Parts: sequence; structure tokens; C-alpha cells
Amino acid sequence: MTGTTPLEDLLKRTFVDFYQMADFARDPLIFSRAEGLYVWDIHGKRYWDAIGGIFVAVLGHRHPRVMEAMHRQLDRMTFAPPLHGTTDVTLEFIEKLGQVTPGALRYIKPFSGGSEAVEASLKFVRQYWRQSGHPGKYKVVSRYHGYHGATFGAMSASGTGPRKTKFEPQMGGFLKVLPPTAYRDRFSNWDDCNRFAARAVEDVIVHEDPETVAAVILEPISNTGGIITPTEEYFQILREICDRHHVLLIFDEVITGFGRTGSMWAAQTFGVTPDLICAGKGVSSGAVPLAAMIAREDLGEAFLGRAEDAVQFMHGHTYAGNPLACAAGIAVIDEIVEKRLWEKARRLGDFIRARLEGLKRHGVVSEVRGRGVLLGVEFSVPDLGVALKRTALQNGVILRVDPNWFAVSPPLIAEESDLDEMCALIEKSLLQAIDESAP
Ligand SMILES: Cc1ncc(COP(=O)(O)O)c(C=O)c1O
Repeated sequence: MTGTTPLEDLLKRTFVDFYQMADFARDPLIFSRAEGLYVWDIHGKRYWDAIGGIFVAVLGHRHPRVMEAMHRQLDRMTFAPPLHGTTDVTLEFIEKLGQVTPGALRYIKPFSGGSEAVEASLKFVRQYWRQSGHPGKYKVVSRYHGYHGATFGAMSASGTGPRKTKFEPQMGGFLKVLPPTAYRDRFSNWDDCNRFAARAVEDVIVHEDPETVAAVILEPISNTGGIITPTEEYFQILREICDRHHVLLIFDEVITGFGRTGSMWAAQTFGVTPDLICAGKGVSSGAVPLAAMIAREDLGEAFLGRAEDAVQFMHGHTYAGNPLACAAGIAVIDEIVEKRLWEKARRLGDFIRARLEGLKRHGVVSEVRGRGVLLGVEFSVPDLGVALKRTALQNGVILRVDPNWFAVSPPLIAEESDLDEMCALIEKSLLQAIDESAP
């Protein structure tokens, strides 16, 4: 690296997400190159990126088709005046995305990140009800353990305590329920547990008065809660409850979208169509920031009218839907659709799951869960993940590690031989973590 500031000083002036920078600066991980399944640090050490950045690089890093599309767009236009119009490439992206969404979810506003997409969906549902004869519907029900983003609305919808408490008070009008995992010990089977957790959502809506509740938002598979994977029936019950009480159902598919659960969307994997989808991460495979809020056709139509009606969506961001990002998004969607990569996600998912199940022989794994290549492993011993995070990096594999579980979601360009290497690195790291954690 070049520059005149000592590296440790420079790092202390940098806010890496959620890190204590005094610690980080002593032993920093600084990346400088990425290609396909791998990232390299500034010392040239290679890491198998088993979570594609952070559930982003669904086609791996720097996919040639995406790079080419961006190079072409770089030569034409990278920004257009957002208060005056849109661009041809933004419209092409909206058309492509609308072709792969479930049901009639075709009204689309592109953004630059998942938090923006979630934030927009929260504002959208409030404005929708206000101009559709139900101005009192503003509350949003979401789940503890969920994560929807870092901005105030998205954070208020999130249910991860440590990421929120420093910023209290949260926004008003956000109500919480527990995900099915919270009741696991109280039921003899997972199906009953899911039924109970889904019906708890109706209890909240009814007790709050449905005329005050605008939406339910949840991740179909929740990462921060430990790859919480409800039953299909859970989503069917939620759908029925939302319909019964005229409450909109928002799926936050920022992680689960774009093929990784075995369908283009987790909505299809679980067989339930929401009213809105928030998409992000995989939509540009990490090439450039891109996300989208996607709404059901008739909801979108409520925003069409005469200028004097002032029903247009009162929302925007400077970089939202910029042409460079949209060019990347088009290439990602084309690649996923042409290669039917969601089908490959099922095949690869079966391969990885079998290997992760095999880790149970070491006596520290209680459950493997998830769908497609989005898989989580829960430990039966507390805090093993603390050591695993260290040993995984030593061995050159990047995982999403929590004290009590870890997750993988490798890019869909991987083949079984690549995954063989990834799983071997994970097993080696786990065995070392067990050794290091031994009393
Ligand atoms: C499910 C979910 N929703 C929203 C977000 C926020 O996305 P971003 O970090 O791009 O703002 C995240 C980020 O991890 C997420 O996992």
C-alpha cells in the first residue's frame, strides 16, 4: 500500500461495519482483489468466499458478463438527472426484473442498497393506505431476530437488540413477534411450532386493531436469527392472516432473492406470493450498488393519477436506478435466467447439505437448515463460533459466523469440485475451533 499515513492510524479513522477499530487496526483484514469464488488480501493470501461477500456475489466476483455490460455502459452514460427523467437502461432493468418476479409484482423502484429498498417499502405502504381510504393504517409488524437494514425505518423493523439499542428511541408504529425458532422447545414438532408462531401474528394485528396495521415485513429465511427456515405452511397462514385483515405482506428478499434458495425468489420456494418484495445484494452480484422495491400491480396503480391529485410516490435517492448499476442488474438477471441457476442452486445445495450434515459426527452440530445454497449450521455447544471465525480466516475461508451458528451461501458459478474444497476448509476450521475451545 502507498500513502504517508501509518496504516494503524488510517484504520483507526475508518469505520469498518460493527468492528471495534482499535482491535481491528492491530490485526486488520484488507482485501485488494476478487475473482469468481475467491478474494485476496493485500498480502496475496487467497480466501474461498463461501458467502459471496455477504450474500451478494451470486455469480461470483467480477463475473465476465457483468463486467462487460458495465464497460459498455461506462462508455455511454453513468448518471442521468434524476429529477428530470430516467434512462433507457433503467427501463430495461425494470422490464427484466418485472419478467422474473412472482405474481403481479411489476411496479418497481430501483435503489442502491437493501436498506433503501426496505425504507421505501415502509413509506410506500403508509402512503398507499393513506390514499386508498385507510389513512389510519400505519403500523408495521416484524420479527425479533430479523434484520432489515441500518436506516431508521429499516432498523425499527429489525429485531436484533445489540444493533438497535444504542439508537433508541426507535421509530413509533413498529410491532414485533417472535419467529418460530423462539418456540421450538415448547412444541414436540416443528410444524406445530410454526403454526403457533404464524398465528401469533394475527393476535397482534387483532389486538392492535387491523384498521391501524399497514403491513407485515419479514425475511423468508432470516440470516441474523441463524438461517431461520419456517415451514411452507407458516407462510400460507401468514398470507391468509394478511388477506383477512387487509394487511400487506412484504418479503424482504435482500438475501433470499436471485436464485440461491432454489427458485428465483424464496416466495416461490415457499409457494406464497407477497404484496411487495425488497430486493438487493445478489441483484448486481456485488459489481456495483443496486437494489429494488417491487410492488403488486394494483398497489402501484394507486400512485397513478392527475398531477393535482398528488398521489405520486414521494420518495427518491440521488443514485437510485443509475444506469451503470442497472446495466449490471440486467446482465445478472440474463445470466441467472439463461442458465436456470436456481435449479443448480438445488443441486449444489444438496451436495453442501450432505457435507454439513456430516459435521455432526464431531459432536458439536445440532442442526443444518436452509434452502438451496443458503444453509446454516447450529452448534450444540455454546460460543464455538468465536473460535471458528478465527480458524476459518486462518485457513482461508470466509463464512458468516455467529457465536452459536455459521452460514454459507456460495456463488452459483461453483461446481461440486469447488464445493469439495470449501467444505474441506470448513471441516478443518471447525476441528481446530473445537480444539481451541476445549477446556
Ligand atoms: C435481509 C436484509 N435486508 C436488508 C438489508 C440491508 O441491506 P444493505 O446493507 O444493502 O442496506 C440486509 C443487509 O444485510 C439484509 O440482510
